[in-house]
Amino acid sequence: MSDSVGIIGAYSNEARSFEPSAAFRAQARLGRLEDYQRLYRESLDSPETFWARETAELSFRSPPRRIVSGGFEDARWFEGATLNVTESCLDRHLTTSADKAALIWEGEPGEVRRLSYAELHAQVVTLARALRSLGVRAGDRVVIYMGMVPETVIAMLACARVGAPHSVVFGGFAADALRERIRDSGARVVLTQDGAWRRGKVVELKRTVDEALSTLPEVEHVVVYERLGPRHAPIQLQPGRDLTWQELHGGEASGAPEIVGADHPLFVLYTSGSTGKPKGVVHSTAGYLAAVHVSTRYVFDLKPEDVFWCTADVGWVTGHSYLVYGPLSNGATCVMYEGAPNQPDWGRFWQLIERHRVSILYTAPTAIRAFIRQGPEHVQRADLSSLRLLGSVGEPINPEAWIWYYETVGQSRCPIVDTWWQTETGSILLTTLPGVHAARPGSAGLPFFGAEPAIVRVDGSPVGAQESGLLTMKRAWPGMLAGVWGDPARYHAQYFAPIPGHYFSGDGAHQDADGYYRVVGRIDDVLNVAGHRIGTAEVESALVSHPAVAEAAAVGRPDELKGQALVVFVCLKPSHAPGPALAAELGEHVAREIGRFAKPDDVRFAEALPKTRSGKIMRRFLKDLVAGQAPRGDTSTLEDLNVLVQLQQAEE
Ligand code: PRX
Repeated sequence: MSDSVGIIGAYSNEARSFEPSAAFRAQARLGRLEDYQRLYRESLDSPETFWARETAELSFRSPPRRIVSGGFEDARWFEGATLNVTESCLDRHLTTSADKAALIWEGEPGEVRRLSYAELHAQVVTLARALRSLGVRAGDRVVIYMGMVPETVIAMLACARVGAPHSVVFGGFAADALRERIRDSGARVVLTQDGAWRRGKVVELKRTVDEALSTLPEVEHVVVYERLGPRHAPIQLQPGRDLTWQELHGGEASGAPEIVGADHPLFVLYTSGSTGKPKGVVHSTAGYLAAVHVSTRYVFDLKPEDVFWCTADVGWVTGHSYLVYGPLSNGATCVMYEGAPNQPDWGRFWQLIERHRVSILYTAPTAIRAFIRQGPEHVQRADLSSLRLLGSVGEPINPEAWIWYYETVGQSRCPIVDTWWQTETGSILLTTLPGVHAARPGSAGLPFFGAEPAIVRVDGSPVGAQESGLLTMKRAWPGMLAGVWGDPARYHAQYFAPIPGHYFSGDGAHQDADGYYRVVGRIDDVLNVAGHRIGTAEVESALVSHPAVAEAAAVGRPDELKGQALVVFVCLKPSHAPGPALAAELGEHVAREIGRFAKPDDVRFAEALPKTRSGKIMRRFLKDLVAGQAPRGDTSTLEDLNVLVQLQQAEE
């Protein structure tokens, strides 16, 4: 845990509350508070009854013997069940909705592709056969480093079809970060694409794979989907290792689903923690499927006719759970967009909603704040009458952004769900239910079915009424991570050791008088920059890998647009002098090591960093400093108070 358990106070708009309209309530899956209360109680008191009923439509080859067994850390969900998630996400819809659009995709330049459930199924089967013909077997990890194209979804589902846990690496990661993830996962096969469009520019994904693999000979096959072609993204194929998606063939291999046990790992997704190396969060098959299936249905009030647009990249957990698995298991139509929100201009999102009659929009506060800056005209020019529900995820939403989202995008008609969850939780755990609860700007809301949150002090004791503390869970839920890939000790140390008997989220929160949870952000050394989760340790280790840097500390500074901006303090080796050119170079260096999304917003030089006597950097003082506040809390543990004084003087 960090040395900074400083949790900021309340927002000004806290008291405002927005009831769902009578019209929304009347058509909602759940429209009465009593229904939520009854189902919530049932989900805790009789999880067997609750989850068995709510997942009855999913395709299990053999039913579970027990819904939940084991302890908290090693909880087993749907024990004894056998299944393949693609049967729930694809095959089961073929009898009822084969021709229904599963995916509507728009490329950044404007082309549109529609894939029906039958087409998506066929393509997944074809790729599953090809993967098998490459020797991929159940349990083998496959890394997917692709952009926002239907083939990425096909790739994920094809891996699931053959029982090979996929590990999707966000296309914004640089070669070193990609290499580290491939190495840690032990994948022998990487699926990628030549390039992707982003803001009119080509992101050269295959080239980054080549760079990553230059020191990773263990990878046997690289399959390249040619999205852009040689004119925009020429690629080099390494003979014997690389082949194009288009030339793949299944030979004699079968496309039949590999039937796996409930605990079989479905995917590994790397995320930043408070210590150096990213963690491979493992999600297993049945519990995860159940969690995303049921949460998609209730939180988004999903109906068969809905067109659901989750704007998250598939490289993050939101894309996994609410662009791919949750909506497809429910047979919904999903929208997927390749590019940037301002390409060709800031009207793109709204035109996309109009064009495809999107009814549910799920996006991040950072995006909303960026739209606010551009003025309402772009939104107002589009016909948004198809929208009926809005969602927010990834970071705390400030009430001003919430109200703009509600009034300007939702035209004061669409409820907003502010959903709190994490890569580790797999599915939404705190939210309001749109037909049941009034929403409160800046407040995630109440526990979703199966979640039992508790806000506690560092010693594990419950906080007093409306007091801030650490957000934890008191019992296992089906979407809970099954472990950290290859590192069971870290799983325990990170999530269960800090507060015995609780799952430790790393977030700070408080509850209002009506029990609404307000999550205020990370209390550990993890930053949330524009909705991207960035570990301070990763940035620091990227910085110290530069020859000029002796030591570095990364902290977040409150930022109107990004939520947090990334500020780094750098101590140089004696042979190097500070200056704007070196600051720029260090910024580029981090972008090269991790990815552009982790490029520091501000590089500052310091003579020394504030440390405890045992040598630990006291980031909380730096955090106060960059926020323009006097250092709060006990300074007596500082090894040298002068360091802080000097930094403050530099600030002034
Ligand atoms: O700090 C919380 C913030 O995002 C973190 C999880 O990041 P990640 O694993 O990348 O998953 C993001 C998408 C689920 C959390 O620890 N966070 C996520 N949703 C919210 C949020 N903070 C406040 N309100 C939210 N709705």
